[in-house]
Amino acid sequence: MIKIAVLVSGNGSNLQAIIDACKAKKIKGQVAIVISNVERAYALKRAEAANIKAVFINNEKETIKILLAEKIDLVALAGYMKLVSSDFIKAFPNKIMNIHPALLPSFKGLKAQKQALDYGVKITGATVHFVDQGMDTGPIILQKAVEIVKEDDLNSLSKKILMAEHQIYIKAISLFAEGKLKLIKRTVYYD
Ligand code: GRF
Repeated sequence: MIKIAVLVSGNGSNLQAIIDACKAKKIKGQVAIVISNVERAYALKRAEAANIKAVFINNEKETIKILLAEKIDLVALAGYMKLVSSDFIKAFPNKIMNIHPALLPSFKGLKAQKQALDYGVKITGATVHFVDQGMDTGPIILQKAVEIVKEDDLNSLSKKILMAEHQIYIKAISLFAEGKLKLIKRTVYYD
């Protein structure tokens, strides 16, 4: 059973999906701690409701310290609106994942769903990747495509992408927990 930390800033629907998957034993692990850099994030309430240690910390050194003290095996960024520093990455090499609401390397950064709509692509989606020094540049673990139809607006597209996010985030964490992910150069392989 791996110990997972989930870092959040907002609503926490990805966090909820991870909590539910651990409970349902779809992931061989437990969410040991949820850290939010936003005091009023709804995600903290979700953690408390699931009896998971939930803390507000807006300081990276402190965050690293607590994650090391908790002996965390995997740090899952889930709507965490902060870039992590190289010190953070060095403390958890190939042990930090992020979920992004587009098919990377397209539409990096903020408002990826709006970027995709504005660009006029017909297919976008979601990506789970390991976190490296760049912004949304780390090795890709899983992706899921989402079609954009003419009826779509930002709201409907974001909802569809969020559903894809939940599916691939759970699967990626589950593969990690079972030791099935192998990283060679920047390519992630799994059985
Ligand atoms: C998701 O779209 C995620 O990809 C992005 O922020 C959103 C967080 O949603 N980085 P939630 O807080 O997990 O509901």
